[in-house]
Amino acid sequence: GMVRKPANFISSISDDRGEELKYGSLTISEVFEQDLGIGGVLSLLWFRRQLPRECTKFIEMILQVTADHGPAVSGAHNTIVTARAGKDLVSALCSGLLTIGPRFGGALDDAALMFTAAKDSGADPTAWIEKMKKSNQLIMGIGHRIKSLANPDQRVEIIKNYAKKNFKETPILDYALAVEQITTRKRANLILNVDGCIAVSFVDMIRSCGAFTREECDDLMSFGCLNGLFVLGRSMGFIGHYLDQLRLKQPLYRHPWDDITYIQEPTV
Ligand code: ACO
Ligand code: LMR
Repeated sequence: GMVRKPANFISSISDDRGEELKYGSLTISEVFEQDLGIGGVLSLLWFRRQLPRECTKFIEMILQVTADHGPAVSGAHNTIVTARAGKDLVSALCSGLLTIGPRFGGALDDAALMFTAAKDSGADPTAWIEKMKKSNQLIMGIGHRIKSLANPDQRVEIIKNYAKKNFKETPILDYALAVEQITTRKRANLILNVDGCIAVSFVDMIRSCGAFTREECDDLMSFGCLNGLFVLGRSMGFIGHYLDQLRLKQPLYRHPWDDITYIQEPTV
């Protein structure tokens, strides 16, 4: 019989071989007939599922609230400096994306893992915070440079209220809010931040919507899918900043000397 050459690649999210492109098992025509939107397309390509409307709407809300946070944050700053150095859109975008990590925009998956493990272990929030402190670990999803109890983050309010209203239950969000109650007593800026709030609400969504097994939920957190949501959302802002700098015809950026403290130490 025929000897089939083993495939070098396997893939399961899309197929362009037939008459019509498919996302999962849906043709691109069906995607539009059913008006799946960005949330629906993302669900097909990232999760290989058609999620209920309250979930796809939530995904779209995440992309909207993370789209931009002004020119001063690490990523937008890098994008702007790169644009002003005369580089192209992809380079400026990548330069911004490369700043996304544990301190800026990339705390979602670890926040999801930490709060979920804490809640599932049955640990009391006070005891858990103490344990984290003793082991010298920052709680991912807690803390913000400028947002605080006195200057609350409306993005967090929007996400929190939607999760509370639309998901069957929100035990991980509730646990994170209990943690925030305690951390903000120490410092007013140790709030549940936008990364943290999205992350815990997302876990509550995937655990309660009935579309994923527990194992699949754990995989999604360990694969980095939640940081992917921030990366995708903020790409909108970074591209916006790139275009803005070109529109404003901004020249090469050079950081002013008077904003740098030069430390003179004898060379050893
Ligand atoms: N958990 C526990 N303690 C914390 C945390 C945290 N997440 N964040 C700050 N602290 C404590 C510090 O240990 C320090 O305590 P000390 O004075 O007793 O030493 C104090 O708060 C101040 O810490 P700084 O590092 O100076 O705080 P800063 O305001 O510069 O940091 C940051 C802000 C980077 C967001 C920080 O809170 C952090 O790393 N958080 C965890 C990661 C995270 O969630 N990042 C996403 C931010 S949201 C976004 O980027 C869209
Ligand atoms: C953001 O969304 O970029 C922020 O929350 C980070 C910041 O420092 O404003």
